[in-house]
Amino acid sequence: MAKAKKKAPARRRATGAGDDAIALLKADHRQVEGWFEQFESTRSADRKKKLAGQICQALEVHTEIEHEIFYPAFLEATEEEDIHHEAEVEHESAKKLIAEIEGSGPEDDYYDAKVKVLSEMIKHHVNEEEKRDGMFVKARQSDLDLEELGARLVARKQELMGDAKPAKLAARRSREPGVLGRLAQRMRPSR
Ligand SMILES: [Fe+2]
Ligand SMILES: [Fe+2]
Repeated sequence: MAKAKKKAPARRRATGAGDDAIALLKADHRQVEGWFEQFESTRSADRKKKLAGQICQALEVHTEIEHEIFYPAFLEATEEEDIHHEAEVEHESAKKLIAEIEGSGPEDDYYDAKVKVLSEMIKHHVNEEEKRDGMFVKARQSDLDLEELGARLVARKQELMGDAKPAKLAARRSREPGVLGRLAQRMRPSR
């Protein structure tokens, strides 16, 4: 008898209700990775600015829901302090660079470098979360209720996205450039 073809697994929606916490967080990771790739392949300053804005906003929301909801639940369920603390420290470093990027623009000589370094930091951090024996695998092995956590993540994410209105982001981006921005200005040859 001919073997029946295996049915392809149903595709999960990226941010749909019903996904568990880990599926939701991984979907965020894939989305931001896609935007980093697009940033690298475009030469348009407008497109770069738009993509960097999307990346920064998504990362701010993602790191916040992990920090508020997923990480504390993970720490309580697994008592994996080292993994938890390293992830928090990585979030803090990423936040500083995100603020630098939001405070500057493609006219800044260091803009592409900042986005590149952020993408490398995030790649490392995502690997720490997703690798074998990493945070997500350990969370799955624990008795965490990942469906319930997923519902909380979605609710908080929607709340935070509502806060991140373009006017507020624009106001934040217009703040003075950060350390690297000031350094770049000083290094520009005077004519
Ligand atoms: Fe993450
Ligand atoms: Fe994270």
